Amino acid sequence: MYEMKILGIETSFDETGVAVVEINDDGKLVLHSNAVSSSIDLNLQYGGVVPEIAARSHIEFMTPAIKQALSQAFPAESDPWQQIDGIAVTQGPGLGGSLLVGLTTARTLAIIKQKPLYAINHVMAHPFAASIGAVGSAPELQDYKLPEATVEFPFLALIVSGGHSQLVYYSSVTEYRVVGKTRDDAGGEAFDKVAKILGLPYPGGLNVSLKAREGNKDNFNLPQPKFQDAPYDLSYSGLKTAVLRAAQSAIGEDYTFPSIGLSERLSEAQKADLAASFEYAALKMVVDRTKMAYEEFEPRCVVLAGGVAASPVLRSMLEAVLPVKPIYPDMKLCTDNGAMIAALGCLQAQAGVNPADPYLLDIKPTWPM
Ligand code: KG4
Ligand code: ZN
Repeated sequence: MYEMKILGIETSFDETGVAVVEINDDGKLVLHSNAVSSSIDLNLQYGGVVPEIAARSHIEFMTPAIKQALSQAFPAESDPWQQIDGIAVTQGPGLGGSLLVGLTTARTLAIIKQKPLYAINHVMAHPFAASIGAVGSAPELQDYKLPEATVEFPFLALIVSGGHSQLVYYSSVTEYRVVGKTRDDAGGEAFDKVAKILGLPYPGGLNVSLKAREGNKDNFNLPQPKFQDAPYDLSYSGLKTAVLRAAQSAIGEDYTFPSIGLSERLSEAQKADLAASFEYAALKMVVDRTKMAYEEFEPRCVVLAGGVAASPVLRSMLEAVLPVKPIYPDMKLCTDNGAMIAALGCLQAQAGVNPADPYLLDIKPTWPM
């Protein structure tokens, strides 16, 4: 093992993330900085993420984020680039315009600073946020709650966010198998849509979760989709429609009643019960699949990643059914960030993965895992 430090750049969606991660002599990943800027407030004026606004914001945020990540990691260095051994960047999947900003920045820096460039799959990188085992001396990092347990191969990762939902078995840094994935929407997106139906503000997932605490999950019976041919696959679109139908019938209307008018007709108790029933159904689906996959594949550990991993209800439901305690990244590393990209870059570099050609590398907006 040799020590190296990688600068990670993430711009797949609405978060501009730049971070420095080191892999030390013992193979431990150490976080030295984690700069994240989000354009969500700007986007929300339009009701959701507008690709052009997200891309333009990445352009605006990129240089300050790189400066922040480098100065936080190396406050005493006049030329922090001397400390950087390589650059890792999200190549896909994601929004084309957003990916282009990060990739073009990384390619340019790799050429100018003469550093090896690692092209990273965003979804594949998510669980490696949980592999970060220590933080450097930057004061901004001292409140990070890093996992006490070490992620060891083979591990099973449950990745659920606003854009992705899958269960992946990793045998090594380079070998993995997608055990199951969503056939339609992502889990986090379903939380966001249900929040809209219930008239709850953004961020949807968190607010559905808070509302659910006041409700009874047994008051609405929502479906659990199952696929004979692919028992680990997930599906959220039917569940979303089921919430819509349950809300319509709760106020005595039929399926033609517009979803936009529901929140003002539903009582607070009905909203709370719908939130609780939906949250339980959505999380039970992934918890059941994870338990089944754990029993079949017998991994050494289970890692939870993506924005929905922030849910304390998901955490306690998983802990109740698994014989091992799942490993969670710090909340700030559950959502999109440059640290998970840098972490996987460090591990790939150590595993001997070939760097990309900075003159040729192109984005892969629909790159599957
Ligand atoms: O990883 P992330 O930042 O997503 C993407 O960029 O795709 O995760 C954001 C997602 C949102 O859809 C949000 O509703 C969901 O994570 N989320 C939650 C909770 N907190 C955030 N979902 C359920 N329960 C929560 N407590
Ligand atoms: Zn993500």
